[in-house]
Amino acid sequence: MTKHAASNEIAARESLAETLEAISGTLKYMAASGCKGFECSPEQLNAVKTLSRLSEVQPEDLEGIQSEVSACMRCNLSKTRTQTVFGEGDSRARLVFVGEGPGYEEDQQGQPFVGAAGQLLTKIIQAMGLGREDVYICNIIKCRPPGNRNPQPEEIEACLPFLEHQLKVIQPEYICALGAVAAQTLLKTETPISRLRGRLHSFGKISLMPTFHPAYLLRNPDKKRDVWKDIQLLMREMGL
Ligand code: URA
Repeated sequence: MTKHAASNEIAARESLAETLEAISGTLKYMAASGCKGFECSPEQLNAVKTLSRLSEVQPEDLEGIQSEVSACMRCNLSKTRTQTVFGEGDSRARLVFVGEGPGYEEDQQGQPFVGAAGQLLTKIIQAMGLGREDVYICNIIKCRPPGNRNPQPEEIEACLPFLEHQLKVIQPEYICALGAVAAQTLLKTETPISRLRGRLHSFGKISLMPTFHPAYLLRNPDKKRDVWKDIQLLMREMGL
């Protein structure tokens, strides 16, 4: 078994264990509340199936989500932004790059990764033998924080459903999470990026490669070797 398949299996077992624990807790609670059993007639089972289908989030199209984002006032960043930065690229891309949030240039132009860090990201994508139009590029948050400060937890929480919807529509096989904010948010961990990078992680069914943010590379060019190692591993996995 490859390392990646093994880590997928561990993640699947962990998630199964969590689900079983939740079911067991619910059953105990129901028993304590006087529940004596369940009706399992074919009609009842069909009703449950229909309900669970209806409760699945219906993926909208990207344009629909984009217009919701452009009108968003869920957090205070809506008061200081010039415009929202939704994301761009191939809406059926196998690979999605996720950054932190728009900077000055992105806020001005309404496009992700178009400033100095963006130019470096474009070079990384080209070094993979791809163009920006072959991948999808977006961010954890869609509005620029004043002075390019780190996004606050409540800003991330307010904005994350938009990214989750984008990913549901695009259905990529791979995500490259650029920097600590993207990697830690998506993997729901506080482990430093220097320890997350270097291997693939599972994000549901998607394989996620965390690596250093291009803006960090501009300040620490000696880290470019590590990023290139991460990207080469990702390329091998993708068969590129
Ligand atoms: N940094 C990011 O994280 N995202 C951008 O879009 C630009 C710079």
